[in-house]
Amino acid sequence: MADIPEKAILILGDKQYELPVVVGTEGERAIDISKLRDQSGYITYDPSLSNTGVCKSSITFIDGEKGILRYRGIPIEQFVNYPSFVRVAWMLIFGRMPTSAELAQFSELLTRHELLHESARHQFQQIPVDAPPMAILSASLNNLSYYHQQFLAFEDTESFVEAAARLISKVRTIAAFAYRRSQGLPFNYPDPKLRYCENLLHMMFSLPHQQYICTPEVVDALNLVLVLHADHEQNCSTFTVRVVGSSKANLFASCSAGVSALWGPLHGGANVKVIEMLEEIHKGGMTPEECIAESKRKESKFRLFGFGHRVYKNFDPRSRIIRDACDRVFATLKHGDPLLDIARKLEELALKDQYFIDRNLYPNVDFYSGLLLRSMGIPTNMFTVIFSIGRLPGWIAHWKEQHDDPTSRILRPRQVYVGLPENRIEAALAQAEELRKVEQSPT
Ligand code: ACO
Repeated sequence: MADIPEKAILILGDKQYELPVVVGTEGERAIDISKLRDQSGYITYDPSLSNTGVCKSSITFIDGEKGILRYRGIPIEQFVNYPSFVRVAWMLIFGRMPTSAELAQFSELLTRHELLHESARHQFQQIPVDAPPMAILSASLNNLSYYHQQFLAFEDTESFVEAAARLISKVRTIAAFAYRRSQGLPFNYPDPKLRYCENLLHMMFSLPHQQYICTPEVVDALNLVLVLHADHEQNCSTFTVRVVGSSKANLFASCSAGVSALWGPLHGGANVKVIEMLEEIHKGGMTPEECIAESKRKESKFRLFGFGHRVYKNFDPRSRIIRDACDRVFATLKHGDPLLDIARKLEELALKDQYFIDRNLYPNVDFYSGLLLRSMGIPTNMFTVIFSIGRLPGWIAHWKEQHDDPTSRILRPRQVYVGLPENRIEAALAQAEELRKVEQSPT
């Protein structure tokens, strides 16, 4: 990489500053401004952090221009038919594919920790039946801190593995319990004989008189959804986990915060919005053409959900894989889904629309993932919960990477203050005094 300079020169007035250039293994270039304020008094301004690298990471690589995604150096396309989600989780967290013995040991840990503490199980009975499952999930992950206080602070690898295994295993049980609660159904305990995805489906769908039997296509599709969501470098929820973890908050609290960040409709909640949008079109509330037109209207808050991405300015490679999986799964089902046809129509319209072309807006992972989850009988309000289960290994991997980095410090950005200046303080104090008088006067 001979053409990359070692330093950048910043000229501010009559002074100039040399800033080191940092180069990643795929040639990404960054200017290290960490000492700039000390040297010059200036900070950099990047309101949505879209041009700011906050760490060095070796977990996931994305090239948004080319539509490339790799986990630990392996292209995402390699994960389509194999391996299991648990194997991918281990790989993301520990940096390489596990040996058979390591995988067996980790799977055994997941089985051992799949039950919730009985008090935690009883707590579910107090939750309103219509409570949003994402609220239940976030609260319940944080609640793990009640029951596993030995992991609130640790430095050894063995404790980390124990805490991570509890999270990856129990998140499934919590998700299934949240669903059962919303349906007014009795909770199903996990079945240690079942593998990760089958166990989740069993806990969600088995009835006391009828064991849920899943087809291999459904198990594979769920595995694929989890694998495709497992990490995506510095996205909003992962960054949240890093921010919380940077204060040395524990792994449970940090991942619980990740769930809250994922909930939003501009992030993981988009898969729900996609289905709501498709349903609206299906019931005749608007045509696909009107939907596209509304999403382009400047004054409108409506967006074509499942389209666009902060990093991808090309196809999100996961969206292609999920679209193909949808075709495969629907081919094995006796029924189709009218929403799938509407989604295809919207995609076709958007991809040839100049507005979307000019802004490089392509389908993202959420455009088809909800349709795939629907095909498995998973209800819309559980979509983002399933996304969270998938993303958990990524959050844990990033938490660990940051925790293990001796140079990492608490994440604490700066701001440019634009509030009341010092020369207006007299006026502010007078206003405060007025308010105090009003509050003290009898009403
Ligand atoms: N529909 C219509 N217009 C869009 C869309 C969309 N889905 N996405 C972006 N645009 C437009 C914006 O209005 C803006 O137009 P302008 O330049 O005329 O003002 C331009 O494209 C750039 O958009 P930004 O908002 O600056 O893009 P940003 O990087 O901030 O946001 C985001 C990315 C949040 C994903 C956005 O594309 C969006 O809201 N998409 C819909 C929600 C969605 O699908 N989210 C899931 C993302 S994937 C994930 O989190 C798992």
